[in-house]
Amino acid sequence: MRTETLPLLAAMAALAGLSHAACPVSGDTSILANTGTPVVTLYITRPPLNCSASTSISVHPNTAILYLTDVFGLALPENLLLADSFARAGYLTVAPDLFSGSPAPGDINVPGFNTTLFLSQHQPNVTDPIIASTISYIRSSLNVTRIGAVGYCFGGRYAFRFLDDTVPPDERVDAAFTAHPSLLENEEILGIQGPVSVAAAENDDLVPPERRAEIEALLKQTGKEYMVSLYSGTNHGFAVRADVTDREQRFAKEGAFLHAVRWFGEFL
Ligand SMILES: *[C@@H]1O[C@H](CO)[C@@H](O)[C@H](O)[C@H]1NC(C)=O
Ligand SMILES: *[C@@H]1O[C@H](CO)[C@@H](O)[C@H](O)[C@H]1NC(C)=O
Ligand SMILES: *[C@@H]1O[C@H](CO)[C@@H](O)[C@H](O)[C@H]1NC(C)=O
Ligand SMILES: *[C@@H]1O[C@H](CO)[C@@H](O)[C@H](O)[C@H]1NC(C)=O
Repeated sequence: MRTETLPLLAAMAALAGLSHAACPVSGDTSILANTGTPVVTLYITRPPLNCSASTSISVHPNTAILYLTDVFGLALPENLLLADSFARAGYLTVAPDLFSGSPAPGDINVPGFNTTLFLSQHQPNVTDPIIASTISYIRSSLNVTRIGAVGYCFGGRYAFRFLDDTVPPDERVDAAFTAHPSLLENEEILGIQGPVSVAAAENDDLVPPERRAEIEALLKQTGKEYMVSLYSGTNHGFAVRADVTDREQRFAKEGAFLHAVRWFGEFL
């Protein structure tokens, strides 16, 4: 299939509320920020322009996928390629840079990288506002009324957090799919107000079998539609960073992706 996806690494001034400020005059130093919250960078990828005509894929109007990455962020090619893949599945897809230009290095075991410190610098008080402004931008500027959140590892937890009706309506998502979500808390699961699907890895230090059973029990308690699928031969991160030369891992990554697409086709 010829792809017409338009990946744009766009610094969206609107996100930081800059568009609401008085229009600056040339030479005015007040437009130079030395402190404050930086503008969020978004990776936006769109369905092929005429895919409905040429394939069986249908484009979903007024609907978007919010793609929430793992700690490797937009620097990891697999994340952008998966976002493009959701676009080819017919969804306008938007992936915010959750780490303001400084994601974890591709190999988190490199000397000098401190995972504990990194995670402490990216707690919900820092990450929530980035996601909230992205959702609000999608709703207000992209003419979208239904949003499905896709979250991998680090991002998985936030797919749950924004499916909660204590979040303001214009910053909320309508359905979620997560793969190997990390750091997920019980209240975040119990707070969901919409359908959630979870793809789980067989070997996941962050979600061992006992925790997976707890997650299932908590999902059941919510009374919402849910689904949990477990893939053999997989490790934490498989839905993004599978070794696709390994048959079992490739099947699992493809399965998780197709599953997400079908989930949103039904519940978004
Ligand atoms: C639509 O798709 C066909 C291939 O199926 C391609 O040749 C054509 O250029 C596309 N048209 C537009 C407007 O993108
Ligand atoms: C990593 O960061 C944590 C939290 O800031 C700190 O307590 C710890 O000492 C650091 N570890 C190393 C090896 O620097
Ligand atoms: C977020 O919370 C942590 C831990 O409570 C705190 O150290 C940090 O300063 C907070 N960051 C912001 C931006 O509020
Ligand atoms: C926005 O959505 C409305 C309602 O679905 C639709 O009628 C309108 O054409 C859309 N506008 C744009 C610019 O896509």
